[in-house]
Amino acid sequence: MLALTGRTRPRARLTGVASYLPERVLTNAELETMVDTTDKWIRERTGISERHIAADDQATSDLALGAAQALLRSTRTSAADLDLLIIATTTPDHIFPPTATLVADQLGATSAAALDINAVCSGFVYGLAHATGMVESGLARKVMVIGAETLSRIVDWNDRSTCVLFADGAGAVLIEADDEGDPGSGVIGFELGADGSGKDLLCIPAGGSRRPARSEGVEPADLCIQMAGREVFRFATGIMVESATRLLQEAGLTTDDVDLLVPHQANSRIIQHAAEKLEIPPEKVVTNIDHVGNTSSASIPVALAEAVEQGNVAPGDLLLMVGFGAGLTWGAGLVRWEPRT
Ligand code: ACO
Repeated sequence: MLALTGRTRPRARLTGVASYLPERVLTNAELETMVDTTDKWIRERTGISERHIAADDQATSDLALGAAQALLRSTRTSAADLDLLIIATTTPDHIFPPTATLVADQLGATSAAALDINAVCSGFVYGLAHATGMVESGLARKVMVIGAETLSRIVDWNDRSTCVLFADGAGAVLIEADDEGDPGSGVIGFELGADGSGKDLLCIPAGGSRRPARSEGVEPADLCIQMAGREVFRFATGIMVESATRLLQEAGLTTDDVDLLVPHQANSRIIQHAAEKLEIPPEKVVTNIDHVGNTSSASIPVALAEAVEQGNVAPGDLLLMVGFGAGLTWGAGLVRWEPRT
């Protein structure tokens, strides 16, 4: 577990958010024609009605670039001023080079260091924590953190228990150094964790160095997401509450101080359960899973961008972000929304 609640200067501030979703919408009705499922089952068990899927010629870097460009426009930031670009993704364009270097190049972020991180659906919160550490240690002043995924490329479209859940998209935030920030402003802190003993509950069995794609006996399904849904559900409902509670306690805050819960959008029942346990009322919970699905590391910034666009977030609002995912990993972050004026 990593706790980062220090009061070092400069403070890191979250000053902008933007997202990009590919045009193609895949509805539950279409999924009914692909696997043995129903719109009713998907909506009742997951809360998803439709999701966006990347075009054949779009890779993760293309979605990330869309979100990054929108973020630079909305924050009136020059790409050349970025010191660091972090992309959280489980679906990089290539094993290497990093997707972040491709996006930095397309963006014109010529002064930025660039790297990918993979903590699966917790990746965005991990990325945010790393950006905060870089800014508050003085190693960077402007960091873009992107969560971007083309999960449609690693989904087994014959497996009804997973193909109805996952989707594509990208969300980006800007983290900036603030030399004047008051205590209680900016990024407040994080609670991150990992438990690799749950590695088999959610994984892609082959295609890595343990079992390369060219190994004997590797089937196409072995290169796709495989999940023990019920076990992951149980883990998710517990860890979201535990991680958020630990973080709030560490920060000396309670859920009454939270203006908006921005949870990982994996299943509306998981979100509802976590919100109820944390005693956060539904009007303070961002839920867009019905039209976005589970976009893994993109899910939290995409949900936040939508909440901002819809005017549901005011400057100074305290955001509680909570994610969990394969690994198993989890992460919660407390951050004030302080957009550029
Ligand atoms: N359509 C119709 N029936 C289905 C479907 C489907 N798409 N999928 C599964 N079923 C069936 C199952 O086969 C099972 O049938 P059976 O009782 O005859 O065996 C029945 O529905 C119930 O299956 P469960 O797995 O018990 O269904 P559950 O209510 O648990 O919902 C779900 C399944 C939605 C996958 C749920 O377990 C879940 O959301 N788990 C967490 C998933 C998650 O959060 N994953 C992402 C983590 S983030 C990351 O790192 C990528």
